[in-house]
Amino acid sequence: MPDEYQIAVCPGDGIGVEVTAEVVKVLCAVERRFGVNLRLTEFDWGGRHWERTGTVVPDDFLQILRPFDAIFLGAVGDPGNLPDHITLVPLIRIRQSFDQYVCLRPAKLFAGVPTPLEGKSPGSIDMVIVRENSEGEYTDAGGIFKHGKPHELSLQTAIHTRVGVERILRHAFNLARGRRKHLTMATKSNAMKFSMVMWDEILADVARQFPDVQSEKCHVDALAMNFVRRPESYDVVVATNLFGDILSDLSSVITGSLGLAPSANINPEREYPSLFEPVHGSAPDIAGKGIANPLAAIRSAAMMLDFLGERDAAVCIEESVASNLSDSRMRTADLGGAASTAEVGDDIALRI
Ligand code: NAI
Ligand code: MG
Repeated sequence: MPDEYQIAVCPGDGIGVEVTAEVVKVLCAVERRFGVNLRLTEFDWGGRHWERTGTVVPDDFLQILRPFDAIFLGAVGDPGNLPDHITLVPLIRIRQSFDQYVCLRPAKLFAGVPTPLEGKSPGSIDMVIVRENSEGEYTDAGGIFKHGKPHELSLQTAIHTRVGVERILRHAFNLARGRRKHLTMATKSNAMKFSMVMWDEILADVARQFPDVQSEKCHVDALAMNFVRRPESYDVVVATNLFGDILSDLSSVITGSLGLAPSANINPEREYPSLFEPVHGSAPDIAGKGIANPLAAIRSAAMMLDFLGERDAAVCIEESVASNLSDSRMRTADLGGAASTAEVGDDIALRI
């Protein structure tokens, strides 16, 4: 294990800045408790950088990030001032350039957390969405023809490669092996007869190599319905970039709040740094009020420590979050409480 981990910290915009401050607090507590050394280097990229320089990131941002062991991101998006397709471009470029082809989004119902679904007990919902993060529907393949004219035409082509599909399925099967050994693949091969039929075929191939894991495919529309009807049936759910994006907002809301949902964008080969960030965005509607829930960001930091090999520290953060939630006093407004972002961060640091 290295003496010191180099972590790039990008708070970003809006509540990204507020929740990242709590992550830094929690990481300091982890350093004290576990003797882990983290060197945090902060970058003010996003709307603040735009105001200073006219760009959201410096031109060489990928070279700057390359040597780090991991990247922590709060959230980007400053929709009042800048269009989203400008602010979010660097994030997509990081995921693609650093080949972070696995996006993990766990969703677990903690004790003490209300869910909009009736009659679900703590722990009954416990799944991980494994989202293909490097290709699919989010590749910039396409264009606009006759822009602004009555006959305007736009094309946005999804790209699915055998290598890309195989590696994400294999990653998901391996993950399922360490969990409840159940895998569901989101498909839509009834309507998308090229791309999703290929996914179905590759699933059948890869499944043969994991006979100990029970696997199934399910059309994504039916899967969305089942997430509401019987979410307890799911363990590992693997999906294309777009399907995974949508399903993971659903899986996070049925387990309480977007403010609890962590995520990891991983390059499993560790050739490039991986990026850890909450699922939520910069939440302009509540930014600056000090009421954002920092737990999604804090749990993302736990995923980062786990990926770096600091498993005890990661488990300790998750347990501290679980005990905070079951304790029920120190919680933010999205979970029906009145605590501030900083109070929840302090509480987690104290528990650690
Ligand atoms: P959002 O996730 O920022 O907010 C959606 C809703 O959930 C809002 O009502 C917000 O107040 C609430 N919420 C989100 N996080 C919360 C938290 N930690 N605690 C309490 N409530 C929370 O999504 P929205 O509003 O669609 O997007 C806002 C901006 O963020 C946009 O510019 C968007 O492009 C960007 N965005 C960035 C992401 C990223 O950095 N990875 C991901 C998603 C959106
Ligand atoms: Mg999303």
